[in-house]
Amino acid sequence: MVYALIILLAYLLGSIPSGLIVGKVFYGKDIRQFGSGNLGGTNTFRTLGIKAGIAVTLADILKGTLATALPFLFGVEHLHPLLVGTFAVIGHMFPVFAGFRGGKAVATSGGVLLGYVPLIFLLLIAIFFLGLYLTKYVSLSSMIAACAAFIVSLFTKDIPLIIVITVMAFFVIYRHRANISRIKNGTEPKIKWL
Ligand code: G3P
Repeated sequence: MVYALIILLAYLLGSIPSGLIVGKVFYGKDIRQFGSGNLGGTNTFRTLGIKAGIAVTLADILKGTLATALPFLFGVEHLHPLLVGTFAVIGHMFPVFAGFRGGKAVATSGGVLLGYVPLIFLLLIAIFFLGLYLTKYVSLSSMIAACAAFIVSLFTKDIPLIIVITVMAFFVIYRHRANISRIKNGTEPKIKWL
């Protein structure tokens, strides 16, 4: 029973639409009606500016990290933190509090990795910013980091980690379908500040 409660909590935690909350409460805007229409940190940054973008990105990361801590907080030993974290990522993508239209799994997946393998998370952050510096596309850099996560995971020999990263990388790339089309036809916006 407690396992189901933890899984449900992780899903609900992931479902908190931080981009929607920050946009509506502090700026009176629904970010889904602007830019890419996505509820994530990038579209918040694009629509509402750097402070809001950073706040939403950090909140989305925190959701994943907190979810991995739930088994520990509940004193449950036999529920893998990565499994719980995956439900936060599912909540982030399909949030019950925002009509099941959520983000693209990047920040919350990163938060799960921060909670479970912080060094790999830091390495992926470095790869993400290198990708951003070279390509100027946030979406492409997110996908590069997702692929890098998959490759790095293979060296860990941690089977649950390899499985969860494979699933997350799939989520990230699948959720970027529209970005991939825009990159191909040259309409994906590039960042200008790096
Ligand atoms: O994390 C999402 C990012 O990779 C792309 O966001 O708003 O440009 O589709 P967006």
